[in-house]
Amino acid sequence: MEFDPKTPQYLTSDKLSFASISANERWPVIITGAIDDLHRTVVGVNDDEKANEGKGITANLAKLKYELQHDRQLSPIDDDGHPDIASYNKELEQRGNPHWHDVPWLYAECYLYRRIESLFAMSKHWKGYDVFARQKMNTFKSSRPAVLELAARYRDIVIEAESGKAKDGKSAEEVEAAERLLFSEMCEICLWGNATDLSLLTSLTYEDIQKLQGSQARKESQKNIIVNDLDAAFDAMQRARREKKDGERRVDIVLDNSGFELFVDMILAGYLLSAGLATSVVLHPKRLPWFVSDVTPKDFSDLLSSMVDPQAFYTAADESGKTFPSLSEKEISDVKFLFNQWSEFHQDGKLILRPHAFWTAQGGFWRMPHDAPELFEDLKESELVLFKGDLNYRKLTNDAQWDPTTPFTEAIGPLGPKSGIRVLAFRTCKADVVVGLPEGEDEKLRALPGGGGSESRKWAWSGKWAVVSLSDGKA
Ligand code: F6P
Ligand code: MG
Repeated sequence: MEFDPKTPQYLTSDKLSFASISANERWPVIITGAIDDLHRTVVGVNDDEKANEGKGITANLAKLKYELQHDRQLSPIDDDGHPDIASYNKELEQRGNPHWHDVPWLYAECYLYRRIESLFAMSKHWKGYDVFARQKMNTFKSSRPAVLELAARYRDIVIEAESGKAKDGKSAEEVEAAERLLFSEMCEICLWGNATDLSLLTSLTYEDIQKLQGSQARKESQKNIIVNDLDAAFDAMQRARREKKDGERRVDIVLDNSGFELFVDMILAGYLLSAGLATSVVLHPKRLPWFVSDVTPKDFSDLLSSMVDPQAFYTAADESGKTFPSLSEKEISDVKFLFNQWSEFHQDGKLILRPHAFWTAQGGFWRMPHDAPELFEDLKESELVLFKGDLNYRKLTNDAQWDPTTPFTEAIGPLGPKSGIRVLAFRTCKADVVVGLPEGEDEKLRALPGGGGSESRKWAWSGKWAVVSLSDGKA
């Protein structure tokens, strides 16, 4: 807390913020989902000892839900042997052992997922069990139309990107303009992939999700990017390519959600490597199941496995016995093309997965230089660090109640100017905090139907609006 900004954070007691809705309405639903999932798994377990232990964890999840709904104090998390527990518990004490409905939103939400994890980590038979895995994989399957559409587009992109490199017959300006356009398209695909995270969209049908992911939806959403620093980001990448022509140029992606969002992150990574805008891409997943849909290393390998035999994956009957139409030869070969590219990049050491415990700590990223100095140093080696999603944005800005016109560079504190880190945040807005807006923009959006008016910043809760914010800490 010592390294946090002085601006107060959003609290679960702020009745007019999404913090309060999250704590009251969403978290109980998420815990219930976890209980259901575990129950279904336990039913299929033959080993009595394991089944009984599973039932015990279910009971503890129910207890957690009870405590939340009855506004009990947050209790210290049981020590599961990982060093981060001490830090969670120390902060809990420093915050005066708060109650669920009057606690900083960011701390409480991280605590919730860390506490769930500890139940499994302390068990004998359930270590590493991910209560959200089933949901993540099912939702990824339902992204089939968008995945196939993008897999086909990816081939064209790679050809376009490589012809950009060849520059045959085109002027330098034409090459640059084409590359800039392609860069924006790839980034927008990657940005809107964040609109469909599972912790938020608990009420959407698969059909709704599919509609959100198509290219038509993306085009229509362009006008909803209310801060867009993509051009400046492209300029920085171009400069780096010119200046370090034959040198290492790394891009980092601090991942958010698995499934479709991870798929589009990989599309972006593959494009950056193919276009020569990066020579390596480092992906940062979470160490443990997090905010329902966040990527763990296992999710990453599951995604790749699904692409080895796309026909089998996409046509397997679901749990209700429903079957799905076969993929065409062309669709299979498009997915395999993508898989082969990614596997090659991975084998050549150009696509690297690097988990770190800091990403599942309870605090914001203002603490990074002190709490994870080696990570901070490592990110300086990168040309561009892309932070995906809403939670990363909340952590960059410490989930604080900034005036929305506060410059992004100021709101991210030690990761801002002169930090040596070039930060680019891709965020569809799903929480109250927002910075870097032009004067009057927040008021304009609040005045829209359902925008929240003078009472609340409701427009920023649904993922309809997005911000792409750059802070060039290398300038
Ligand atoms: O607001 C809903 C919420 O669960 C936030 O708590 C969190 O910031 C966000 O959704 C998760 O979204 P994302 O996956 O984009 O980080
Ligand atoms: Mg997430």
